Amino acid sequence: MATLADPATQFTRMPHPAPTAAEVRAAVLADPGFGKAFSDHMVTIDWEEGKGWHNPAIGPRGPLSLDPAAAVLHYAQEIFEGLKAYRLGDGSMALFRPQANAARFNASAERLAMPALPEAMFVDAIKELVRADADWFPTVEGGSLYLRPFMIATEAFLGVRPAKSYKFIVIASPAGNYFKSGAPAVSIWVSDYTRAAPGGTGAAKCGGNYAASLVPTAEAFERGHDQVLFLDAAEHKWIEELGGMNLFFAFDDGRLITPPLNGTILPGITRDSLLALAREEGLAVSEEPYSLDAWRDDAASGKLVEAFACGTAAVVTPVGKVADRNGEFIIGSGGPGQLTGKLKARLVAIQRGEAPDPHGWVVRL
Ligand code: COI
Repeated sequence: MATLADPATQFTRMPHPAPTAAEVRAAVLADPGFGKAFSDHMVTIDWEEGKGWHNPAIGPRGPLSLDPAAAVLHYAQEIFEGLKAYRLGDGSMALFRPQANAARFNASAERLAMPALPEAMFVDAIKELVRADADWFPTVEGGSLYLRPFMIATEAFLGVRPAKSYKFIVIASPAGNYFKSGAPAVSIWVSDYTRAAPGGTGAAKCGGNYAASLVPTAEAFERGHDQVLFLDAAEHKWIEELGGMNLFFAFDDGRLITPPLNGTILPGITRDSLLALAREEGLAVSEEPYSLDAWRDDAASGKLVEAFACGTAAVVTPVGKVADRNGEFIIGSGGPGQLTGKLKARLVAIQRGEAPDPHGWVVRL
């Protein structure tokens, strides 16, 4: 039965000026964190069998329309990259080694049975996006515009074979510090899980590798650590890499080592850059296997003085503590070491156009 409604309450409307889009963006850019905020645009390029790459476009960033049978949703045929654009002191913009990302992208594509993208097209797509989203550089110290190029298999087909159509997309995200804790040195949990086996996809930057790292990473977080460390699959002895970054070890005799690229480790571009810079610093640099046991012993004896993680997102981050089921150990003072600071400062100065760039790594827009 219908009832008589109470007379509507009369609310007084107070003036409340909504923040403008520019004000919202300014707040984001002052404290972007990592991977939480996104710029206005995206680039898309399509690929089809028999047609190749076509239809390059830049437009508003927005949801994709995908058939629910798209191969990426079922068999994870997906690859991605991560690189950064920097706003330089003179107001111009620059990328760091985008060709290296393009080359690695194609190496990943080959492993995942996806079509290669011409390197120039990869770099042009990124430049186009950065120019369109030039207002999205963070204002926070150390900030940058993180670029995420990726490729997905779009063909609607449930048979297990390489898809016949793909989409390449680039999005951008204003980025500050990768680690939420902002701690001066990170703490690492050594996982019982493995990330990659010989002959697997460990050297490819594909989403599946990161999906497989989520449970181990959650375990690390639950135990109060910042990152997870993976050992090799065969012996569970040799240090490979962290959930999303490579590792370096510095010794009191001037040696600097990092695990070799044996097919199960991601060939980091920051890793490669630091190897070059460390050689120029006169360090005895080598890519050689290093075991968790040796790390524990060398940390205890004081031979190992520093360890650091590196990657596009993490830049160079000191490792202060390592823990596994048997206990934990501290690296050096447990805080940032001198060499780590020096290498980071050299790398960042080049990236930001504040130091000579003898390798031609910086690509200005
Ligand atoms: C990067 O450093 O760019 C990465 O891809 C690591 C992580 C954010 C997935």
